[in-house]
Amino acid sequence: MKSLKIGLLGLVAMSVAGCHTDMWRQPKHEPLDASEFFADGQASRPLLPGTIARDHLREDGAFFTGAENGKWLDKIPVEVTKDLVKRGQERYDIYCSPCHGRTGDGKGMIALRGFQLKRPVGNYHTDRLRKMPVGHFYDVITNGYGAMYSYASRVEPQDRWAIVAYIKALQLSQNATVEDADAEGKAKLAMTNTEEKVAVK
Ligand code: HEC
Repeated sequence: MKSLKIGLLGLVAMSVAGCHTDMWRQPKHEPLDASEFFADGQASRPLLPGTIARDHLREDGAFFTGAENGKWLDKIPVEVTKDLVKRGQERYDIYCSPCHGRTGDGKGMIALRGFQLKRPVGNYHTDRLRKMPVGHFYDVITNGYGAMYSYASRVEPQDRWAIVAYIKALQLSQNATVEDADAEGKAKLAMTNTEEKVAVK
């Protein structure tokens, strides 16, 4: 008799709990559910014509692709300031120098040790790349190049241009003469030369 009572209590408890399904059976549609309400049978509605996701209105094609009318840009489409080049240096040292080296000669740690790349890492100081329009560098970062993969997911467009500005500075620096230095730079170089001469003696 006692066990029958407990059994009945259990049944009552279960049926009471069973009634509370309203929280997880809600009259709503999950994405891509079927629907009898709409004529096309889909619960998800198509976007209105002309809808653009926030932050995705990429009207300035040249800024986002590095090309205009099928040609690489030969001028960086943002103002090149000292801050931009500094930002480029920081991003370059993080994302590119492991393979390309701090000066862009293609002798980064990864290229020198271990990591097997299908092709040698590019050296920026060849005649071909020195003459290459800036848009090509932007495109290499965006879409990758041969064995090099794309950095689009890690480097935002504005930072890609900053890196390109820094690569241009690297190219200048590796191919400069004393005449390219300003007065302060020339004075420093003269000092270095004297020190070297002293050291040689
Ligand atoms: C994991 C190594 C690696 C990293 C990191 C890397 N690259 Fe490269 N890069 C390569 C390799 C390998 C090549 C040569 C690809 C080929 O010729 O197939 C290359 C080639 C290039 C070239 C030459 C393209 C040409 O026209 O010859 C440029 C410019 C370049 N990389 C820019 C960058 C920039 C800018 C970054 C940082 C955002 C970067 N790379 C990061 C491996 C790397």
